[in-house]
Amino acid sequence: MKVLGISGSMQPNGNTAYLVRKILEAVTEANAEATCEFISLGGHHITPCTGCLQCREKKECVITNDDWGAVAEKMVECDVLVIGTPVYYYDVSGQLKNFIDRTYSLWHDRRLSGKYVVTVAVNGDCGADRALETLEGFANAHEFVYAGSVTGRASLPGDIIGDTAACEAAVKVGQKIATLG
Ligand SMILES: Cc1cc2nc3c(=O)[nH]c(=O)nc-3n(C[C@H](O)[C@H](O)[C@H](O)COP(=O)(O)O)c2cc1C
Repeated sequence: MKVLGISGSMQPNGNTAYLVRKILEAVTEANAEATCEFISLGGHHITPCTGCLQCREKKECVITNDDWGAVAEKMVECDVLVIGTPVYYYDVSGQLKNFIDRTYSLWHDRRLSGKYVVTVAVNGDCGADRALETLEGFANAHEFVYAGSVTGRASLPGDIIGDTAACEAAVKVGQKIATLG
């Protein structure tokens, strides 16, 4: 079973990355046969969908001069996707939205259909519910099988360690993922 964790924060070691990694660690601990990979979109150049609609015919995104394709390929190959975002104005980060919008090219042939998904959102104070709804919209459109969600509360990088409920929820959902494969 391949598990791919994506953090949509520009902070490679921020709070979202921490929770996504925590989930992957729990998977590895509970299932030695699972292969887990973590990607922070923070180190990646991902340009917006231009709405050219060429992917309707070509079934692939015609933008090839950025990092989207390499990350998308890993997503197509995984069995379980853990996708996390910091909450920006009650929604997902712009970087993650760019990433998601480009997956329209994978939607036409439902190339993500049937994969499990776990969603993660970290807010300083409020807005995580709405961000999770955006991720749910992405998951439903692509026909992912929903396997859970984790919300965290944290402001400065590292604050998430103090949200013990979120950390416990991350471990729990990781243990659940471990049983899926
Ligand atoms: C541009 C921007 C917008 C934000 N909007 C919200 C918000 O709407 N609600 C909230 O509670 N926190 C908001 N925050 C705080 C972040 O969600 C919070 O610091 C989070 O822990 C960052 O996660 P990261 O370390 O993974 O990047 C915002 C932060 C930034 C930089």
